[in-house]
Amino acid sequence: MADIHTTGAGAPAIIRRSDYRAPLWLVPDVALDFALDADATQVRATLAVTRNGDHDQPLRLDGEGLVPLSITVDGIALTPDQWSMDGSALVIPLSGNAHAVETLVTIAPAANTQLMGLYASGGLLCTQCEAEGFRRITFFPDRPDVLSRYSVRMTADKALYPVLLANGDPVASGDLEDGRHWAQWNDPFPKPCYLFALVAGDLACNADGFTTMSGRKVSLGIWVKAADLPRTAHAMKALKDSMAWDERVYGREYDLAAFNIVAVADFNFGAMENKGLNIFNSRYILADPETATDMDYDAVEGVVAHEYFHNWSGNRVTCRDWFQLSLKEGFTVFRDQSFSADMGSPAVKRIDDVRILRAAQFQEDSGPLAHPVRPESYMEISNFYTATIYNKGAEVIRMMHTLLGPERFRAGSDLYFDRHDGQAATCEDFVKAMEDGGGIDLTQFRLWYSQAGTPRINATLTHDAATGEAILTLSQAVPPTPGQPDKKPMAMPIRIALFDRASARHHGDALLHLTQAEQSFRFPGFSAPPVLSINRGFSAPVVIDSDRSQADLAFLSAHDDDPFARYEAMQQLMVNVLVGTVAGQAMDDTPVIAAIRDTIADSKLDDAFIAEAIRLPSESYIGDQMLLVDPDAIHLARDRLQAKIGATLEQEWRALHARTEANGFSLSSAAKGARKLRNTALLYLSASGAKDADAIAFAQFDRADNMTERQGALAVLASGIGDHREAALDIFYNRYADDALVLDKWFQTQALAFHPDTLAIVDALGRHKDFTLSNPNRVRSLYGAFAANQWGFHQGDGAGYRMVADIVIALDSLNPQTAARLVPPLGRWRRFDAVRGGAMRAELERILATPGLSKDVTEQVVKSLE
Ligand code: PHE
Ligand code: ZN
Repeated sequence: MADIHTTGAGAPAIIRRSDYRAPLWLVPDVALDFALDADATQVRATLAVTRNGDHDQPLRLDGEGLVPLSITVDGIALTPDQWSMDGSALVIPLSGNAHAVETLVTIAPAANTQLMGLYASGGLLCTQCEAEGFRRITFFPDRPDVLSRYSVRMTADKALYPVLLANGDPVASGDLEDGRHWAQWNDPFPKPCYLFALVAGDLACNADGFTTMSGRKVSLGIWVKAADLPRTAHAMKALKDSMAWDERVYGREYDLAAFNIVAVADFNFGAMENKGLNIFNSRYILADPETATDMDYDAVEGVVAHEYFHNWSGNRVTCRDWFQLSLKEGFTVFRDQSFSADMGSPAVKRIDDVRILRAAQFQEDSGPLAHPVRPESYMEISNFYTATIYNKGAEVIRMMHTLLGPERFRAGSDLYFDRHDGQAATCEDFVKAMEDGGGIDLTQFRLWYSQAGTPRINATLTHDAATGEAILTLSQAVPPTPGQPDKKPMAMPIRIALFDRASARHHGDALLHLTQAEQSFRFPGFSAPPVLSINRGFSAPVVIDSDRSQADLAFLSAHDDDPFARYEAMQQLMVNVLVGTVAGQAMDDTPVIAAIRDTIADSKLDDAFIAEAIRLPSESYIGDQMLLVDPDAIHLARDRLQAKIGATLEQEWRALHARTEANGFSLSSAAKGARKLRNTALLYLSASGAKDADAIAFAQFDRADNMTERQGALAVLASGIGDHREAALDIFYNRYADDALVLDKWFQTQALAFHPDTLAIVDALGRHKDFTLSNPNRVRSLYGAFAANQWGFHQGDGAGYRMVADIVIALDSLNPQTAARLVPPLGRWRRFDAVRGGAMRAELERILATPGLSKDVTEQVVKSLE
């Protein structure tokens, strides 16, 4: 078996946080000159380099796939003996302390299938440099702690590329001979090269403006294909809302005269915060009622905000090295979550965010790829854009916010921006600023950055009738993770309330500071045992094990005034029944059905919350509660409970479905909530087995004036074996055949369906004329979704594993980043029975045996097998 700790022939090197050294050479200024062309782009780079400290080391410039066509130092061409290549890096010995180094290379954007560096997408030329793509454009010290002022000149064919954009502000442009033109952009703010960007293409602009709090006018542009212009209004509103929010909540003002966003169809991640020129996966920009669901609208708003917020948390203050990635990502996710909460419903936003955390991060934290929020080592940094860095990182920031309260947190963030503006900082710098600005000791809290694994908190509530005290005992354990067998107790805020059973009220929240392995808290004034509401608002990203009865959970599901805790009580009620059923116990499901009945009848609740609260936990969340996952038993138990809820409350579902029928589309919270509840009602009605359910679903599909209801109905129909399944899928396909983002939904809905033939369906879709490995969205819609469909992916004969492994192998030679992100589902083999686990391992071994496997996939597979 390959061992990542030995550097055998060809084994990727391990980069360690402890090996960090300051850069030997700095590059205060760089001038780039691009002669753009899809097949052959010439890049001339002039770097003003300065020696950093007292040393005699040569200048070393990273490169990937680059050949230097000419090199000059201070205007004099170098002879071949005056430079060398060390692997793919360019090494130039320099005598003085400051020089001007110029290199010339040619790159081929149209041949760039990795979508890193300069690449072509749908007739555009665009860049993606984070984390290490700039070295595929020109020779440069490609590390985030080298900050430079950029001036960028582009020339291109004017007919093909009428629009030329780069970071910063436009300074000049003009026409050339032969139908070419040029533009010059300067960015006055020093930045690391991962924030460099340019775009050339035939783009239309949604132009708008924003006046900052100090009265400066900023021109805003969202650039898309002309036909997509009508779908940019929501993104523009989100951008302006974000700009105002960051001023109001963090005191952060935008700093350039222009802010541009470009949407591209082929993109490895969600979007990129390049200084003054954000580049987006088009799915996070384009939205209209006909093609975008309410979830899509919310995602557009959230991602636009996220990238905008990076202008301060990421760009003005950047990361010293990639081990500090969560410095910008965790903080920025926390900021975008807070923003979205303020724009809509904080309760529902928190529930959604916790669901994502549990589905993605808790799974990661309990498997072979678990790593701390600040990792110690990596082979390929692209593999570390993870739920742990992003979402757990955001929870860590949120806990500091909870511990400090909003004012002191703001004092800490002000100090952080003030101290480190223009610098490449560390997670430690952030924590220190919170300590100094907020007035708090975070010594023990820092363990959240270094210890991986999700803490498990055991909560026991006892009652002393003699003293009238309720006694809460909390004990914590952090499970072992790769390389970290023993864990220390962590510090965390646990918000609780104790409910009086008779009045269904409590005396206010208590914020408990859990710091020890075991700790007891005493609460006087209880003549009878109260009911425990714990981890209210999900104050700490942990698993709570408590001995609360089904009756107590039912009580909380009806009375808890913390919306998250109320939702959570309901989920736990359901999980207990489902896990018990899977384990073969005869479970009483009447409390679940009663709780759902009461919840939908509670007129004080809004529709969006009701829809969240009554939805059954996903199959994979049920699996996560078990040591060994039994996908078939889980599917059966969940399906039966859903059917019983459906049938028992059939009249309620009919009434709800009718009540939530809207006339006229609106994006108000009430309208969005109604659509969410309508889809949930349809789901339960369909599960009830009612004869007319299929027809009702088809009618909703057919008549909907918005994608939320149309796709909701399609998902119900696609999971069934009813008459309307094929018809609905065909109608949907034909209606949206030339809209890539909607076609993604068509693929995804089928890959996520609870249909007995999902594997065969996905297999056939992989050969559909509209399927392509070259578009990451399409790959994720089909195979990413399928690998998340527990029942389909883990079907007993291992065919699901084989199918995904085939795709990993086929995709790796084109786009290793996207291929690597399909590996983790196969790495969870320890949680499945010997037959499934063996089949998963066999596929991992088969991937690893592929000649020429990328570093990206190698790292994920090797770690998964360990
Ligand atoms: N930095 C981007 C973000 O979080 C994510 C990203 C990483 C995009 C790497 C592209 C490549 O907003
Ligand atoms: Zn980010």
